[in-house]
Amino acid sequence: MTAIVSHLADRLSGSAAVPGDKSVSHRALMFGAMAVGETRITGLLEGDDVLCTAAAMRALGAQVTRLDDGTWQVFGCGVGGLRAPDGVLDMGNSGTAARLLLGVLAGHPMSATMSGDASLRSRPMERVMAPLRDMGAAFATAEGGRLPVTVTGAADPLPITYTLPVASAQVKSAVLLAGLTAPGETTVIEPVPTRDHTERLLRHFGARVEVSAEGEGRRITLTGEPELKARNVVVPADISSAAFPMVAALLVPGSEITLARVGTNPLRAGLIETLAEMGARIERRDATDADGEPVADILAAAGPLRAVDVPPERAPSMIDEFPILAVAAALADGTTRMTGLAELRVKESDRLAAMAGGLARCGVRVEETEDSLTVHGDGTPPPGGAVIDAELDHRIAMAFLVLGMVSREPIRVERAETIATSFPNFAGIMNGLGARMEEMKENAA
Ligand code: S3P
Repeated sequence: MTAIVSHLADRLSGSAAVPGDKSVSHRALMFGAMAVGETRITGLLEGDDVLCTAAAMRALGAQVTRLDDGTWQVFGCGVGGLRAPDGVLDMGNSGTAARLLLGVLAGHPMSATMSGDASLRSRPMERVMAPLRDMGAAFATAEGGRLPVTVTGAADPLPITYTLPVASAQVKSAVLLAGLTAPGETTVIEPVPTRDHTERLLRHFGARVEVSAEGEGRRITLTGEPELKARNVVVPADISSAAFPMVAALLVPGSEITLARVGTNPLRAGLIETLAEMGARIERRDATDADGEPVADILAAAGPLRAVDVPPERAPSMIDEFPILAVAAALADGTTRMTGLAELRVKESDRLAAMAGGLARCGVRVEETEDSLTVHGDGTPPPGGAVIDAELDHRIAMAFLVLGMVSREPIRVERAETIATSFPNFAGIMNGLGARMEEMKENAA
């Protein structure tokens, strides 16, 4: 077990290479494994979550190799060509890996069993299984529709039209991926737009994906049984990881940092919009396009922040960023209200409870309801001084370590090894910018 203690930071400066985007990394490996030929992926996130996906795709018959220069090479089996795994597929901590792969497996006529860590085994899977059953797959689950799950894929998957009952890119993606092996058109209607990496990357691999407006949301139609062609993929830096040094630079007086080649997909960039409304000094520079995904260098500089109301319809575009936004809100002047957050209760942990409880222990005034968080700041550093158990939630761990950088007393995060799921060497990279995070290995009790 690892604990990290975060002390008051020096002014942050310089630039940092944040690891690759987790959402894009999972998809690049999965789609490469279903394409014909050799896919090369550069900038893949080598975090535990994505390594689970790599191992799963190998177990399903794809050849997945890390080359010496850090490029990942995938030789795929073609659409519908995966084979039954010998053992249980261990998806670790990753909801994205588990839910997307359930979609892939639902379209293959074979059985496979999937499990994960205690956090993943407590997370809802019925949201993907419901539409996948309509497409012809069958599932045997642990109590409450949780993992471990044995999926028996459909021999003749049916294309469906499905309206998402929750704003979830994972559910959308699971249906579209099952639709790859179904004849005809599979359509997902999302009342609120969610991250569209699946649509963009499937197109990059040669699938036909049409997207049109549907009310406030979108209608996405995939033409089934495409031949996916191997493609090279450059993975942008993960905006959800960049969020931690970015907010740290806004909060630590005198800081100015640059984060290189960060993915700025508008369906992921809600945090930047919100921080801009709070008065943050954030700039995008040298914006370009990397294999269908917008990227830019991000410059963040310290300055006072004012409180803001975050509208509920923005939640999907910053769903993973509420823990670090709550930290920014604790240092902002005034009362920040975040609403429409029910989904935060079923992430790697109950993030509403984790943030409300942890912030309160650090001396910040917070209120929590079933689906909202209100944080009262007065523009001055909070007392800090708390011990936070990350349990199995990387973003809770990183959020409190950033809070430690600007609190009067250090904050200690226990079980911080969970950070490696999405941001390997987080403390090293933060310390390179000017943080003072001390890592301590502890023996398991
Ligand atoms: C993800 C979708 C989101 C997000 C997760 C990654 C994806 O989950 O929280 O970290 O890659 O599709 P939901 O689909 O549950 O909103």
